[in-house]
Amino acid sequence: MGLDIKSVLVVDGVGANCTEILNSHGIKVTNKAKITKDELLKEIPNYEALVVRSASKVTKEILDAGSRLKVVGRAGAGVDNIDVEAAGKKGIGVINAPGANALSACELTCGLTMALARYVVPAATGLRAGRWDRALYTGTELNGKTLAILGLGRVGREVAVRMHAFGMKIVGFDPFVSAEQCKEFHATKMELDQIWPIADYITLHTPLIESTRNFINADVLKRCKKGVKLINVGRGGLINERDLLDALNEGQVGAAALDVFEKEPPTDPLTLEIIQHPAVVATPHLGASTKEAQVRVGQEIAEQLVNLVKPGTYATP
Ligand code: MLT
Repeated sequence: MGLDIKSVLVVDGVGANCTEILNSHGIKVTNKAKITKDELLKEIPNYEALVVRSASKVTKEILDAGSRLKVVGRAGAGVDNIDVEAAGKKGIGVINAPGANALSACELTCGLTMALARYVVPAATGLRAGRWDRALYTGTELNGKTLAILGLGRVGREVAVRMHAFGMKIVGFDPFVSAEQCKEFHATKMELDQIWPIADYITLHTPLIESTRNFINADVLKRCKKGVKLINVGRGGLINERDLLDALNEGQVGAAALDVFEKEPPTDPLTLEIIQHPAVVATPHLGASTKEAQVRVGQEIAEQLVNLVKPGTYATP
C-alpha cells in the first residue's frame, strides 16, 4: 500500500515531463516556476508533496505549514536547501535525483576551467567593447597542470576523466573513495595538506554540510600556490567569500570561476564585488541547467513519487 498523494506542488521550474508523468498516474500537479517564501507558506497546506530545485528553501517553517505534506522531492542532487532533520521529525520523506544532472555539472566545470586558462570571458568582453587586446590575454595550457578535485562523487569523477584527456595531472581528495577506486578515473588520491601546495586548479564537488562549510578559507588559500585558480560549480558555502575576495585582491588566487554563491541570487555587497572582480567569471547557478539534465531530473523525481504512491511501478535507477 503506497502513500496517499493526490496533489503535488512543483516549484522552481522543473521540467514539464515531471508533470506529465505524475498526471499520467492521476496525480494532480500545480506548477509555480517562481514562488516567494510567503506564497509558498500560503500554498503548501494544500499539497501532499512538494518538488523544488535549488531556489526555494524548505525550512522548518515551510514544513510546519505543510499540514498534509508527506514528501519533499529535490529535483537535483544536493538537499542542502531542505531542513532534512525537521522533515524527519515530522515524518516527511525527502527524496532527490542524485546522478541525473552530474554530466551537466561536470561539463560546465570543464568549460569554466578552460575559460579561466584562456581568459575567454574577459577577452570576449574586451573585443565586444572594441578592444583587440591580444597581448593582454596570453593564457596557459592545461596540459601538464595539476587539477585538484575535492569530492570524488558522480560529478568529480566525470571531471577527472575529461580533464585527464587534456593532459592534466589529476589529484583528488575524498574520504569515502579509496586510492584503488581513484585509479579507475585517472586520479591520484591525496591528503589535503599534500594537495594545497601543488594544485594549479582546484575544483569543488563536495556536498555542503557542516564539515565542508568554508572548506576554502584564508588558512587554506595561503597554503596554495600563488595564482591558484578555483572553480566552484558545487555550493556557494564551500568557499568563504570574504577570504576569497582578499586572496583575489592580493593575487594569491589568480582567477575564480563561480557558478554558486553563499546567497542566491546574490545581493550581499561582498558577493557582488567578487562577481565584478576582473579575475572572476561568474554564472547564475547553471550547473544543472541543460535540457538533458532537466529531462532526467524531472523523470527521476516523478518516477520516485509515483513509486511511493504505487510501489514497484518504475524500476529504481
Ligand atoms: C543540484 O544540486 O543538483 C543543482 O543545484 C540543481 C539545480 O540547479 O537546481
